[in-house]
Amino acid sequence: MDTTEFGPSQLGTRAHWDHVYEREARFTAQGFSRFGEDSVEKMVDWTLENVPAASGPQILEIGSGNGTLLFALRDAGYAASHLTGLDYSSDAVKLARLIAPTRNGEEIAFHVCDFLRDSPPFTTGRPDASGSWDLLLDKGTYDAIALGEKDELGRSPQAAYPAQASRLLKEGGYFLITSCNFTEEELKASFIRPETNFEFHSRVKHPSISFGGKTGNVYTTVAFKKIS
Ligand SMILES: C[S@@+](CC[C@H](N)C(=O)[O-])C[C@H]1O[C@@H](n2cnc3c(N)ncnc32)[C@H](O)[C@@H]1O
Repeated sequence: MDTTEFGPSQLGTRAHWDHVYEREARFTAQGFSRFGEDSVEKMVDWTLENVPAASGPQILEIGSGNGTLLFALRDAGYAASHLTGLDYSSDAVKLARLIAPTRNGEEIAFHVCDFLRDSPPFTTGRPDASGSWDLLLDKGTYDAIALGEKDELGRSPQAAYPAQASRLLKEGGYFLITSCNFTEEELKASFIRPETNFEFHSRVKHPSISFGGKTGNVYTTVAFKKIS
C-alpha cells in the first residue's frame, strides 16, 4: 500500500475551509494556530536561523489560513512588504485581512489563489512568479490537499504540488513544510525528485509520543533546498 495516499475527506474541500474560517471570523476574529503555538515558533526559529530577515527574503506561505505564521514572522522582524499569503478559501483571506490591523500586519499581502490551479501572486517588480521566492512555507496545506478527490485518471491531488513549489522558488531557495499526516521519509520521497531539484536540508525536532510500543512524532517539519 502506498502510505502517501489517503482517501478523500471533507478536509480536502474548499467548502470545508470556507466554513471553518467563516465561523472563526464570527466567533473569534483573532486567529489561532492550527497544530499549536509551538509549531509556529519552531518554523519562525528555523527561518531566523536559515533565511535571516537582514537578507530581505521574499516569503510566500501556501495555504496561509488566518495568517498566524506570517504575523509571527513579521513580529520576528521580517518586512511585511516581503511577506505574502495565498489560500484558495476566500473566507480565509477575508479573515487574515480582518485580523491584520489587530496584529500590526497591515501590509502583508493575502491573495485568494488555488496553489495547484491558479498562477500564484508575484513578488513586486517581476513579470512572472517563477523563481521569485526565497522561502516557501507550508503548515498543514499539503496535508489538506492530499485529502482531496483524485482526478478522472486516478491521480492524487498532491501529485502536482512538488513541481509547482519548486517552480516558484529561486535557486538556493528553501521550502519548509510542517505536516501532521506524513513522516519525514514520506515527505522526502514525494519532494526529492528529478523534476524538483530539491535536496534535503534539515529537520526541526518536535516532541515525540509513544503508543502501542511505537514512538513517533506528532508532526514533522522538514526543509528542502532547491539546487541548480
Ligand atoms: C490545515 S489548514 C492550515 C492553515 C494555516 N497554514 C495554518 O497553519 O493555520 C490548510 C489550509 O490550506 C488551504 N488550502 C487547501 N488546499 C489549497 C489549495 N489547493 N490552494 C491554496 N490553499 C489551499 C485551506 O483553505 C486551509 O486554509
